[in-house]
Amino acid sequence: MRKILVVGNWKMHLNTSQASLLVHRLQERIAIRRDVEVVLAPSMLVLQPLSVQIDRRKFRLAAQNAYFRDEGAFTGEVSFTMLRDLVHYVIVGHSERRHIFSEDLDMIRDKVAASVRNEITPILCVGETKRERSDGETKQVLHDQLMTALHNLTSREVGQMVIAYEPVWAIGTGDVAKPDQIEEIIDYIRGYIRDVFGPKASKELRILYGGSVTPEVIHGFLDVPGVDGFLVGGASLNYYSFANIVDAAYKWQREKGEV
Ligand code: PGA
Repeated sequence: MRKILVVGNWKMHLNTSQASLLVHRLQERIAIRRDVEVVLAPSMLVLQPLSVQIDRRKFRLAAQNAYFRDEGAFTGEVSFTMLRDLVHYVIVGHSERRHIFSEDLDMIRDKVAASVRNEITPILCVGETKRERSDGETKQVLHDQLMTALHNLTSREVGQMVIAYEPVWAIGTGDVAKPDQIEEIIDYIRGYIRDVFGPKASKELRILYGGSVTPEVIHGFLDVPGVDGFLVGGASLNYYSFANIVDAAYKWQREKGEV
C-alpha cells in the first residue's frame, strides 16, 4: 500500500521567523497521522532551524534543490551530501528550476543520481508547457524527461522514489488540470516505469499531482486513480489551507477503508 504524501513547497517565501511561525501553527492544527506523510520544503536557510522545531512524528523535511557534486569550488551551491542528515527528500527538476535557471535534462539526471547516491529520496518533477500540450507533445516530453532522469537507476531505486506530475501551465496559475487529464498522464508514467523497470517498481513508486492544488479542488483530485498525493505551492503558505488539504487526504483514505 502506497502511503499518501503531501508536500508543501514554500519556494522563495518566508524568512526564519515567518517559517517558524507557520510551523508552530501547522503543529497545532495537524494531528499525528501515521498513514499520511506530510513534508515541508522551506528555503535552504530555514532547513536547519526547522529540523529542531518540527515534531518528527508529524513532519519530514525536503530541500527544494541541491547541486549534484558532493563538494568543491561551486560558489553558492549546497550539495546533497551536505543535506543527507537534514532532509528525507529533495525536489529535483521543478519547472521553475528548468525554465528560470535553465536546468537541462542532463543536469536533472545528475541531480537524481546524486540524491540516490546520498540516500535522499528524490521528488522528480515532470510536466509539459502549455504549448507542448497544445502541439500534442505531452507524452513525448514526459518520455524524454523520464528517460533521461532515471538513466542508470535500478528498479529498486526507482520504486522508492517519488515523481510529481506538474503541468507547467497549472503551476501558480489557478488553471487546474482536469481529473481525466491527470489520470491519463499518471497512467502513462506508471506504464513507462512498468515497461522499463518492471511491475514491482511501478507498483511501489509514488506519483503526486502538483499545480494550483487548494482545499477547494482537492476532492476531485483524490479520486483520480493512481494519485498518491500532492505537491502544493501557494496553498502551503497558509496553515489553514495546507492543514485542510492534509485533512482531506486523511479523510479520503479513511473513507476508503484503507487506514
Ligand atoms: P502551486 O505550485 O500550487 O502554487 O501551483 C505548485 C508547485 O510549483 O510545486
